[in-house]
Amino acid sequence: PASEADAAGRKPKKLSEIVVGFSQTGAESSWRIAHSKSIQEEAEKRHVQLLFADGQNVHNNQVNAVNGFITKGVDVIVIAPQESVGWKPTLKEAKRAGIPVVLTSRGVDAEEDLYETVMVADFVWEGRRAGEWLAKQTNGNARIIELVGTPAADVAVMRKTGFAEAIAKHPDMKIIASQSGDFTRTKGKAVMETLLAAHKGEINAVYAHNDDMALGAIQAIQAAGLKPGQDIQVISIDAVKPAFEAMMEGKLNATVECNPLHGPLLFDTIDKIVRGEKVPKRTIVPGQIFEREQAAAAIGSRPY
Ligand code: AHR
Repeated sequence: PASEADAAGRKPKKLSEIVVGFSQTGAESSWRIAHSKSIQEEAEKRHVQLLFADGQNVHNNQVNAVNGFITKGVDVIVIAPQESVGWKPTLKEAKRAGIPVVLTSRGVDAEEDLYETVMVADFVWEGRRAGEWLAKQTNGNARIIELVGTPAADVAVMRKTGFAEAIAKHPDMKIIASQSGDFTRTKGKAVMETLLAAHKGEINAVYAHNDDMALGAIQAIQAAGLKPGQDIQVISIDAVKPAFEAMMEGKLNATVECNPLHGPLLFDTIDKIVRGEKVPKRTIVPGQIFEREQAAAAIGSRPY
């Protein structure tokens, strides 16, 4: 019944009656921009008042934003955490204030009872799938540059783990250098320039933890007089539209999909939470791999 309070003392509410505070990492990648857009558009569609805080890729900005949401007394807090650690005191504070927290796109290193639910992709699977693909493509013979995402994010750790697991089965596949490009195109390019110069003639593959870094790396490979997609095989993760364009130009070989369109699922979940219904602790958003041969046929139906 609408008048009954739940165990935390919350009265059931409708989506159109609530205020949601959303702390986003920033706008580091095409994926992230699609993620923000999906959540903002869905909020508007469902008449939810959304307070959007752009963390500019700084962990402390996000902590401050969430503390601000708690002080304001919003109904639900949504966090897409730039970094996985350092969230416990803030999450405890939200819990003490009776404000449910929903995590989207990345997880946190904290006890599960400090948040309601987390919606993410299977990041270990993504890394493993990329590694398996590269093993097949190179007949298990690859000298690889790995462009790592933000090191303090669970997604980067897990994509690294999955890939390492897959290539460990192939003694002639070696990571020559592994460095962070912070999930951005600019840093992916800069890091690739340095690593290509340091390992001239040695590299035949790049594994980037996201498409943006791969697209930056492709520019660096071309600037070094090499052909990305031929001299150097390039595989990344996300499957954003610019990656499909690069595949159609023959410069990117494959991308593993990580779907950023969390808006509909997020607000279905928040709807249940504010009505006092139970939600699963974790929802895995599924993905698939796309190779460049599929790009032309698939690009028209890519939603992001
Ligand atoms: O958390 C998901 C990752 O963050 C995406 O793969 C990446 O592009 C983004 O910045």
